[in-house]
Formats: sequence, C-alpha cells, structure tokens
Amino acid sequence: MRLTLRIWRQANAGADGAMATYEIDGITEDMSFLEMLDALNEKLILAGDTPVAFDHDCREGICGACGVVINGDAHGPERTTTCQLHMRHFDDGDTIDVEPWRAGAFPVVKDLVVDRSAFDRIIGSGGYVTAPTGAAPEAHATAVPKPAADSAFEHAECIGCGACVAACPNGAAMLFTSAKVNHLNVLPQGAPERETRVLDMVARMDEEGFGGCTLAGECATACPKGIPLTSITSMNREWLRATRKAGR
Ligand code: FES
Repeated sequence: MRLTLRIWRQANAGADGAMATYEIDGITEDMSFLEMLDALNEKLILAGDTPVAFDHDCREGICGACGVVINGDAHGPERTTTCQLHMRHFDDGDTIDVEPWRAGAFPVVKDLVVDRSAFDRIIGSGGYVTAPTGAAPEAHATAVPKPAADSAFEHAECIGCGACVAACPNGAAMLFTSAKVNHLNVLPQGAPERETRVLDMVARMDEEGFGGCTLAGECATACPKGIPLTSITSMNREWLRATRKAGR
C-alpha cells in the first residue's frame, strides 16, 4: 500500500506547528496504525530527519497512552484505540491526516504527543478509596449487589486515553470524570467518599480548563471502551445529591 501522510509537526510546546507531507510505500493491511508510523520513522531516521513523536505503551488497547486524530476522528475510523487500528481500514493511494488531540487542557508537547496530566490531577483529587489495603479480604466480606458490580466494571473500563475530550466540540472531560466517579461511587467500598469524590473531581475538572458539557454525545461515540453517555447523567445526579447534602 502506498500512502500520503499529512502529519502535524511541532518541535516543542512553544513552537508553531504545521502539517508536513510524507509519502510512504510498502504498508500492509495487517500493520497497525502505530506500526505504519514506525515504518515512517525508520525511513525518516535513515534519511537523517527527525522522527515523528507519538505516545504509546502497551499497544494492546489497555493503557490509554496512544491516541491521535486520524482524518478528523479521534482514534480514526474504527471504535478502538489507535494502537488497535489496522491499516486494512485504508486503501492504496489514500491521503491520511494525522493530528494530536486538540483541546485547550491538553497542550501539545511535541508533534502528536500531548500533555494529559490534567487527567492525573482529576484522579488525584478523588479517584480513590480510603478503605484499608493489605492482604486481599475474603471475597464475600463486603457484599456487592450484582447491578452495582456490573456498573462498576463498565465504568472501570475507561483507560483515560482522552478521545472523549478530543472528540467533544467543547473540549469537555465529563465522560472521563464521570467514568472515574461512577466506578467508585456505586460500590460500598467507595461510599465513605461518595460526596467529596464527585464534588472535588468535578471542581478539579473545571480548574483544569476543560470545556462545559452540552451532552453533544461525541465523547461516547469516540470512546474505544464504550463508556455510555448515561455515565454523565449519573454523575450529574451524584453531584446534585452531594451539593444538597453539603448545603451548597
Ligand atoms: S498503546 Fe496502550 S492503549 Fe494504545
């Protein structure tokens, strides 16, 4: 497969960026999108040019490190992570635009790499439980109703890739934050911090400069793990409940 790639190049956070065009040949349909970028980088290095910087770690769709906008879509044409996207979704002769996540709260570090540490700070503000840790407790020591366990698992699937933010026309982080809030708020182990968790994480999300949510729904469409839009409405209910309880 022969492709024309138009890739965002930006030397550092303070530099101006621009799209650069590259021609690449020998791409097979079984290559992942990141392997295709690897092939481009090998070519650039052999030519003495600077390789394209992009984020990745597991390359198995579980760490959330990868993520670029491909032809205008977060993670590209499939509902999966960029590392799990294969070149069979493209045709010989295609031109592919590759850009970093575009969001005010995700500043570009270099080329396709953005700083997503705002997510870490949201987690740090309340995405944990204070239950004592140590040896694994007896499995039935704390009964968890089946619907609550299912809901916790569903929300725990969020890998924090940031596609929801990149896809949102407002640059909002509501889907990410709601997944992390709901994951713990539905469990008995998360009950002691139920109110402070949602209040603090939403406040931190706002402080980080993410946009306001208008329930456009693009986030849930782009999410590679299928976090539903109802996650946001559930968090809104939690937030209202906590606000009333706190007398705010
Ligand atoms: S590199 Fe880990 S999810 Fe893509």
